[in-house]
Amino acid sequence: MQYSKKVLEHFTRPHNQGIIKNPSGVGMVGNPVCGDLMKIYIKVKKNKSGEIIDDIKFETLGCASAIATSSMITDLAKGKPIEEAMKITRNDVADALEGLPPIKMHCSNLADEALHEAIKDYRKKI
Ligand code: FES
Repeated sequence: MQYSKKVLEHFTRPHNQGIIKNPSGVGMVGNPVCGDLMKIYIKVKKNKSGEIIDDIKFETLGCASAIATSSMITDLAKGKPIEEAMKITRNDVADALEGLPPIKMHCSNLADEALHEAIKDYRKKI
């Protein structure tokens, strides 16, 4: 299987890995087929341009693609208003990683779902 340079970079040195204490929202999703799990924590800050994802971290138990997509989605979402972060799709993540091997495309589902769940969790609390 051929991974892109970007996937390998994010897999070997993931960005924003860890947890946020007292997060504004948390999203956790699992892939029932492979058993991989992804958890995304967000800290939302309000400023004059709206509600911004000020900090974001992930914990993932999963394959190389699951780790790389987690890392990439945190980069894509950080600093964005939550409405824009809600629009990030699995294809945006795969494209930013310069593609995923076709049989690994499903791994990117976890990343956008976990982010969207974290935002929904935040909205439930306000
Ligand atoms: S094989 Fe499970 S998310 Fe990649």
